[in-house]
Formats: sequence, structure tokens, C-alpha cells
Amino acid sequence: MSARSADGAAPLRSRDWFAGAGVQGFLHRSWMKNQGLPDRVFDGRPVIGICNTYSELTPCNGHFRDLAEHVRRGVLEAGGLPLEFPVMSLGESLMRPTSMLFRNLASMDVEETIRANPLDGVVLLCGCDKTTPALLMGAASCDIPAIVVSGGPMLTGRYQGRPVGSGTTVFAMSAEVRAGRMTEAEFRSVEACMSRSPGHCNTMGTASTMASVVEALGLGLPGNADIPAVDSRRRVLARDAGARAVELVRDNVTLSAVLSRSAFDNAIRVNAAIGGSTNAVIHLLALAGRIGVELTLDDFDTVARDVPLLVDLMPSGRFLMEDFFAAGGLQAVIRELGDLLATDAMTVSGRTIGEVAALAEVWDREVIRTRQDPVARNASIAVLRGNLAPDGAVIKPSAASPQLLRHRGRAVTFNGADDLRARIDDPALGIDEDTVIVLAGAGPRGYPGMPEIGNLPLPRELLRRGVRDLVRISDARMSGTAYGTVVLHVAPEAAVGGPLALVRDGDMIELDVERRLLHLDVPEEELRARAQRWRPPRGLPESGYGRLYVDHVRQADTGADFDFLVGRRGLTVRGDNH
Ligand code: FES
Ligand code: MG
Repeated sequence: MSARSADGAAPLRSRDWFAGAGVQGFLHRSWMKNQGLPDRVFDGRPVIGICNTYSELTPCNGHFRDLAEHVRRGVLEAGGLPLEFPVMSLGESLMRPTSMLFRNLASMDVEETIRANPLDGVVLLCGCDKTTPALLMGAASCDIPAIVVSGGPMLTGRYQGRPVGSGTTVFAMSAEVRAGRMTEAEFRSVEACMSRSPGHCNTMGTASTMASVVEALGLGLPGNADIPAVDSRRRVLARDAGARAVELVRDNVTLSAVLSRSAFDNAIRVNAAIGGSTNAVIHLLALAGRIGVELTLDDFDTVARDVPLLVDLMPSGRFLMEDFFAAGGLQAVIRELGDLLATDAMTVSGRTIGEVAALAEVWDREVIRTRQDPVARNASIAVLRGNLAPDGAVIKPSAASPQLLRHRGRAVTFNGADDLRARIDDPALGIDEDTVIVLAGAGPRGYPGMPEIGNLPLPRELLRRGVRDLVRISDARMSGTAYGTVVLHVAPEAAVGGPLALVRDGDMIELDVERRLLHLDVPEEELRARAQRWRPPRGLPESGYGRLYVDHVRQADTGADFDFLVGRRGLTVRGDNH
């Protein structure tokens, strides 16, 4: 059936369901009427899905019932029909073994639910880390008109008068506990101080990074990155987004119309300027793969090399998201970056990213600095290569110790997280300030799921002596709220026979971030001999979703998506509902 909207402008796919005559049309409308929908709403108005990741098991998204209500009002106001639906929610703080194991699964839920239902456009309600890439990836494979509403960060928590950053302060304090400088009871009393309001992590961790990336990609309205979750302006943003979604459908602005290569370049550059999470690398690569934009790991280094770190937020700096919002927020950063961005990139607001940011101002120069006086001159994530990471590895120099960015040291190796936990405090390992700690077996396939354990804990004895950072190398990821001289995402990972699996205790490793080098100083011949003795790990899942995951997950350097999910599949479904 060819269907057109009420004003005859663009074809609406929902008409294939709701405008039908006979039994099928009856079925599609009748059951919807049991929810109190009057007949008049089936007149060809745009149907907007509100894709909700609300869950009490995802505390960062626990306020999404309220947020969805405001989206609904906006859709109604603009003459659309809002229909809210749940999708798999992914919370960082509870899910075992790691929420990353389920990002691709959630994206399949989103993609299939959108395509199978009479939706013309969607509002994606995202918050906690993985919910943003999962929803974006699923919607991108459908290439439907879409707008993102992020949940917003928690308010600043304080302990004994000092700000407590989600994750960041916890990592620092747990090191103090291990060093014997803080009691367990004190540590526990910080819990409620840190999480004092609804919202996601209040640092520039992965959630705030991805909410910023959404805005930089042009997929969210101004303020999406930084308005606190409980600020009434977050509700206004949700309402505006609902209304805007209706317009996007009327104008047939699909995701691929916004997600150009320029949009990705802008996101990469903004991520550098805000000191964003290394996880953005993996998620943006996966998203680019879905929408069909050419993007490589090296682009994260080269595209953003001249971008300064403008934002002084934890984990790279001092402040928190509430300060960032008050200082002018992401729009002020976009304006400050000016010609470092492709200012003509289109956004879901209907205006270019440059036009939207034109009126933004910086209100606090301590939090958002100028390009002339930045927090750091070069802020891009560095992509390292060498015989230890032939397909690349990443490090976030802004969160590292400057004196360790060029370092040569003796390796102490661990195989998997359990081995690390069991032995890290063993004095016999002889770990000192110069040691390079290597963790293998924590990549996408090896763990499986590529957990956030790359900021490996330091031995208690070193912490007691006041050492707070060592060079650490792994095929794992790191929480966006974490910090340290940590080399992550080594590809190929150890579990597929990557060189990381061949490192032995005592090998010398050279890290030189300036030269983008990660070198294992072992003769080629010896490495070949070790490779011949290498055997694939045992104990990987043999059935269930875990089996699907290990059989199909790609390596970190291409975004760790499933091989069969890459690409755009559109919205066409053969056959009616039966
Ligand atoms: Fe949900 Fe950090 S735990 S955003
Ligand atoms: Mg996390």
C-alpha cells in the first residue's frame, strides 16, 4: 500500500497499519483503542515511538517515566501520536559480567522493535553509558527519523565539603582505603553523598561523554549534554524533542541525513575538547558502521590532533557536570571551538551546529577555558601502534601522568581478571614504579564482553608508599570516569592470538605516546616461537547469547559490533502482521 500523510507531504509507514480497510485495519486499530485512543488519532498523523530505557535496575535511568511523559506532551502538542515502548535497559552499576556484553543485544531489540511496529519516527531516551550507543546503533540500522533525549547528570554530591565525582572519586578513595588512609566506614558513608539525586554519573564519564557526543553529532537539542537530570529545563528539552520528532517525520529527516562524516568528525573533536571517555571511540566506530560512514580508529587521533582540552572536568580535571552546565555547557564549548568544527553540519533542530551555538556564552572561565589558554594543548585520544598492538590501542593522555607518557619498563603479566585479583598484592612479583602491568584476556571475545577493568589496581605496598600511577596495558576498556596511564583496547586481543598473549614476565615494553608507539622489545624469532606454542583460551560460552557473542563480535578497533549487524537495513518489512 502506498501511504501519504494527511497533508500529502511525505509517505508515512504507519499508514500501512492504521489506514487499512478490512480485517487487518480493524485489528491494528481496534486493539490500540483498548488503551483509550479515539478513532480520530488514526487520521494519518505521525506516530512517534518513545523508546524508553527506564528500569529500576538502571538507576541512572530511573527517572525516565517522568521524562517520557514530557516527551509525550511535546509529541501531542505538535500533532503527533506518541506511543511509548520499553527496550532492554543496560545499567553499568549492577550488570554482570559487564554491560558491554549486552550493547549489541540491546541494539537488536531497538532495531527490530522499531521496524516491526507502525512507527514513523522515534525519540530515544538514553542515559547510562551503553543505553546511548545501543539505541543509536539500532535506530541507525533502521535509518528512521530520530532524536535523542539524554537523562542528564546527577547533581554535585559533597563529602566533608568536597565534591564527589561519580566513579572518579570512588577510584581515588578506594586507593586510599587500600593504602590504609581511609576506613571502610568512612568510605561507605560517601555512597549516599555521591548519588544524591536522579541522573547519570556527574563526571565527564561515558554517559556525559555520549550525551555530549549526541549533541555534537547533531542528534540532540542544545542542553542535551549538560542540563542536570532534576533541572526543570531537562523536562522542557524532552518536551521540545517530542515536538521536534514530529517535524522530523514531516520533513523526512532520517538519521543518515544528520549522521554525515562531518558529524562524526565534530563528535571526535568535541570529545577531545571535553576530555571525553575512551569508550566513545568504540561506540562511534560501531555507529559509523551501522549508518555506513567510513570511519577508522586512526581518525580519532588525526582528526582531533589540533584540538585543545577546554573543559576542566573530572576525570581529567577538577569540576563536575553541574558546574559545566552553569558555565555554559556543551554549546559554549562548540562555540569556543569555532572553525575547528564543521559548523555547517546539520542538526535535528533544523539548523546547523554553528547556527545553534552562535549565541552560547561561557560564564565561568575556570570550567570552560579559551582556545588560547586551554587546560592542555593537545587533547585527542592517542592511537598507539607497534608490534604489541598491530591493529591499534588507545590512551587518553589528558587522564594520564605526564612523566609516564614516555616510559620503558619490565612487564609483569596477568591472564584474566581473576588472576590479577589473586596475585596483584604478591610481593614476589617485585612490582615497582617502573613496572609495566600487562593484563591479557579481557578483550571482547576473551572475557567475554570487554569489561571496564583496564585501570588495573596498583599493589597495596606501592600505594602505601604513595605511588598512584603505573603504566598499565590491556585489551580491556576503562570506565569513562577512571584515570591513569592506561593503554586500552589493544587489538587484536589476546584471546584471538594477538601479541598481548605473548608477553612474558620480565619482557621490556616501550611506550612513547608522542611517537604513538607501543613496542614489545623481544626478538621477532622469539615471538614467532611463542606464537606457535599459543593455544586459544578454553571456557568460552558454548551456548546461549554468550555463544552468539563470542562467535560474532568484532575487535575493538572496528567498534566491537557483531559482524552480521554492520550496515543499514532500513524499515521495510515483507508481509502484514499475522
Ligand atoms: Fe550509569 Fe555511570 S553508572 S552513567
Ligand atoms: Mg562504565
